[in-house]
Amino acid sequence: MSAKSRTIFRRNIAVGPDPRTRLKTGESPASSLAAFVLMICVCVFEILSAISFANELYAIVREPSLERESDSLNMIEPAVGFMKVPATKYYFPPESIDFIIEKTREIFATGSYLAMGKYGDQFEKEFAQYNGSKYAVTTNSGTGALEIILRAIGVEGQEVIVPTNTFGATAFAVVRAGGKPVFADCLSDLNIDPNDVASKISDKTKAVVTVHIGGLISSTLPLLKELCSRKGIQLVEDAAHAHGSALGGRKAGTFGLAGAFSFFSTKVMTTGEGGMITTDNQDLYEQAMILRDQAKRGGRNFHESIGYNWRMPEFQALLGITQLRSLEYFIQERSKIAKFYDSKLGGIPSLERLPIPAEARPNFYKYVAFLPKRVNREAMHLKTTGFREIRFYKPSV
Ligand SMILES: Cc1ncc(COP(=O)(O)O)c(C=O)c1O
Repeated sequence: MSAKSRTIFRRNIAVGPDPRTRLKTGESPASSLAAFVLMICVCVFEILSAISFANELYAIVREPSLERESDSLNMIEPAVGFMKVPATKYYFPPESIDFIIEKTREIFATGSYLAMGKYGDQFEKEFAQYNGSKYAVTTNSGTGALEIILRAIGVEGQEVIVPTNTFGATAFAVVRAGGKPVFADCLSDLNIDPNDVASKISDKTKAVVTVHIGGLISSTLPLLKELCSRKGIQLVEDAAHAHGSALGGRKAGTFGLAGAFSFFSTKVMTTGEGGMITTDNQDLYEQAMILRDQAKRGGRNFHESIGYNWRMPEFQALLGITQLRSLEYFIQERSKIAKFYDSKLGGIPSLERLPIPAEARPNFYKYVAFLPKRVNREAMHLKTTGFREIRFYKPSV
């Protein structure tokens, strides 16, 4: 990781502006009026939390005792059992819960398949349609989705360029597919730098994986795409953060050869665990269908190669179908809260918010702001017990 990238890494905090209310799955379904009142209460609560967060942050940024520079990477856990603004909260509206229960009863009553059944197919079709992709393939995780794509490309013994600032799974998937990750530095929008990618390309480079960090597609992605096609290298999107994010009206997962989404519990839409591959390429689609199911061709026990189980269960697909229906609503609500943070944090001198280019529509998986370098992170962590601060990503490389 270069000095520039390390500075970005140390300055970065991501605050979860999750606007969604949660009805715990164990609760009995509330009436629509009760649900509405609950939503209003939680919204007011979150707005108050955000105001107190902004005030705390303002005090911290100004407080001289916190202006020590610290190189310690030891995390000091705050003494809090309850986070006022948690980094993530999933939300299943009452009608989604009804749908999931009804279809689950139907699955049991008919004895239909518990994996690779009709709801998996339906989720794939609806996700592909929403995303503007020709094909979609469900998997059991975002990491699995990435590994399948890389195996289908054939990165074994080859190099794959990945960003320095990403979750470990991006690079792990390359290694597990038999490739060698080569790290390229990031820009100030935290996405991979096409110029640094250009300098890392070798005879062995087979693919570049870009990551839409925090749900923002970089305005430099067209440059990266152009570089890859000029050099004959495959572009893959790690879209684990970027459900519904767009650039110039085009959704994440439609820019490269294929995109890999994660539906882990923290994501903007979730199935608990799960993933999705999107692509317009028929060969990649067919390979992905085979690889995900123990490398079996045509669903029979005839294995084309050594395979693996990356299949999604039907129950996860049911969750996914309902979450997809709410995705635009989730993004709208997150965008409103992000605007609210903008208005509150905009007045804090020396706190830099991540600029959003006009042509980008982020899903606000994260709301990213940069603290001044002089602020001591550990002291801040102790002092602000009211929100969750996340460091991207440790270790970065
Ligand atoms: C950038 C990135 N890529 C890949 C993954 C892996 O997704 P999953 O946890 O579904 O395997 C994650 C998970 O958070 C991620 O943040």
